[in-house]
This record gives sequence, structure tokens and C-alpha cells, in this order.
Amino acid sequence: MPDRRTAGLFAAAALAVLTAGPAAAQEVREPGLTPYVIKDYAVEKPLTGKPGDPAQGRKWAITSGQGNCVICHRLPIPEVEFRIGNVGPDLTEVGSRLSAAEIRLRIINPKTVNELTIMPAYYRVTGLHRVDDRVAGKPMLSAEQVEDLVAYLSSLK
Ligand code: HEC
Repeated sequence: MPDRRTAGLFAAAALAVLTAGPAAAQEVREPGLTPYVIKDYAVEKPLTGKPGDPAQGRKWAITSGQGNCVICHRLPIPEVEFRIGNVGPDLTEVGSRLSAAEIRLRIINPKTVNELTIMPAYYRVTGLHRVDDRVAGKPMLSAEQVEDLVAYLSSLK
């Protein structure tokens, strides 16, 4: 039998695994946004309950004021070649590296994967700094737009 102290340490370790382990599921609820569950660094269920439209996702990826992902990421979109940035990883074949669920979390809130990343959280309204009054309370992308981008990036293999 473990003594009381050992048993206490054991219980504390078990609790830490339950609350902070990568396998633990965490439900995120924010005002006005669709709730979602993070598990294993991924969000399995589409925010809209259905797959997005990859052609629309391609459009958000190059539209300033929407996703505009190309300012930081290489994507196979020849018409914007001249303004493609390389601050973030090349996403040309991201669909063969990450699952749709993993891509979804990285668009919703990449800070959950790397707290220090400079990539913005596109589906988040709390915990943000220096938010302009005109856009406060609104995520950068709607749930539909996130799903369109997930569908587009998943198709890149
Ligand atoms: C300000 C620059 C910036 C913008 C804008 C940006 N990203 Fe990122 N993104 C990054 C960086 C940097 C990383 C690397 C992750 C890290 O920092 O830990 C990353 C990582 C990712 C990853 C994971 C790639 C991998 O191989 O692990 C995906 C997927 C992604 N971004 C998608 C997007 C999408 C979609 C958009 C547009 C809606 C976007 N990003 C906009 C900077 C950016």
C-alpha cells in the first residue's frame, strides 16, 4: 500500500493528466461563436456541421480583410505569386501532412499549439489584445469561412 503522501502525489499527477494532457478533451465556448472541442491538438467536428467549399476557401486565402493567408504562407495560387510571403510554413502540400481536424484547430486558434506563434487566431473573440472597437466581438473569419479554408487546405496534397 502506498503511504498517504505517495497516494497524494499520485492523485495530483492523475489530475494533471486529466486537465492538461494532450489527450484530454477541452470544450471551448466563446460569446457568439459555435462551441468546439479540442482533443489531440485537433478539432474533429466541422464548426458548421458540414464540409466547406474548397473554391471559396481558396478565395479567402488571398482576400485581404478576410483570411489573406498568403501574406505569410506559400500556397499554389499563381495569380498572387508576387505577394506570397514566407513567414509561415509552406502550405503547398499541407493536406498530406495534417488532417482536416488538425488544420481546423490551427486556423481557429494556433496559440493552442504554439503559445508564441505570430499567426492570428481566426475564430476567437476573447483573450485578444488591441482589438479595434469596430471589430470587437467578431472573429476574423466566420465558421463557414473557417470550414471553406479547411476544405481547401485539405485538398492540397
Ligand atoms: C502573420 C503570419 C501568418 C498568417 C497571416 C497566417 N499564418 Fe498560418 N502560420 C504562421 C506561422 C508562423 C505558422 C507556424 C506555426 C507556429 O508559429 O508555431 C503557421 C502555421 C500554420 C499551419 C500549420 C502548418 C504546419 O505545417 O504545421 C496552418 C495549417 C496554417 N498556418 C494555416 C493558415 C491559414 C489558413 C491562414 C489564413 C486564414 C494563415 N495560416 C495565416 C503564420 C501565419
